Amino acid sequence: MDHISEVELLTISPTIKSQPKGKPSAKPQNWMRDRLGFGGVASTKALKTFDRSKQPEAYDFALSFVDCPRSVVFWGPNGVGKTHLALAIGNSLLDRKGAANVPVLFISFDDALRQIRKTFQWESYDGHGEWLYIERWTTIPVLILDEVGQAGRDKPAGDGEFTRRIGYDIIDGRYRNGLPIVLTTNKSPNELCEWITQSAVDRLMEMGRFIKMEGKSWRQGRRRTSSSTKSG
Ligand SMILES: Nc1ncnc2c1ncn2[C@@H]1O[C@H](COP(=O)(O)OP(=O)(O)O)[C@@H](O)[C@H]1O
Ligand SMILES: [Mg+2]
Repeated sequence: MDHISEVELLTISPTIKSQPKGKPSAKPQNWMRDRLGFGGVASTKALKTFDRSKQPEAYDFALSFVDCPRSVVFWGPNGVGKTHLALAIGNSLLDRKGAANVPVLFISFDDALRQIRKTFQWESYDGHGEWLYIERWTTIPVLILDEVGQAGRDKPAGDGEFTRRIGYDIIDGRYRNGLPIVLTTNKSPNELCEWITQSAVDRLMEMGRFIKMEGKSWRQGRRRTSSSTKSG
């Protein structure tokens, strides 16, 4: 993702009608989707491509989000559809026409941390400080923060202080601004404290719901189906 253009978006109105220079063929809607992190395969992740029977509670929450946005944490093992549903929420919001189209940003927690770390490096200093990113992530009407507590890692990198500080700042800022966040994680609520602090987890509980998504990884299911199809 283009980090600087992320920040430029601060100046874009939610009901943008015109196209950016240099991309004459891009539909404004698609261009905006790209900018907001919903480009490529992400734009195919919708409610209509999700099998509700596997995760009815999470699916129904996602379905109701467009009319009734509130915070949610989708948590559970890998491959159960957390990211898919989070993207589906984002795509539903971007599919709304005209003024009803709500700006929503999708970013993985790791990318968010990377963007902030980049502002500390002189050679890649982009003129925007840490505060500008935090400001952006705490004022966008809907933020989707994916994969908090990176898969395969028990603890944040280093001493974790930086990770927890940024995690807390994002959640606390949205809490104070009264704006919803959609967060996905493979950690339990208790384990999540290690990544974003106990205070942030408490705020999330106050802001909305924790929905546990259980079951087998969809990826494994697909792999089995495709290998049995091949051998049979
Ligand atoms: N219930 C479902 N219906 C349709 N596709 C699903 C479902 N659950 C998962 N998938 C698909 O399985 C893959 C893994 O899902 P993903 O959302 O990335 O899982 P997670 O974020 O929980 O690790 C994706 O390609 C996703 O589209
Ligand atoms: Mg995921």
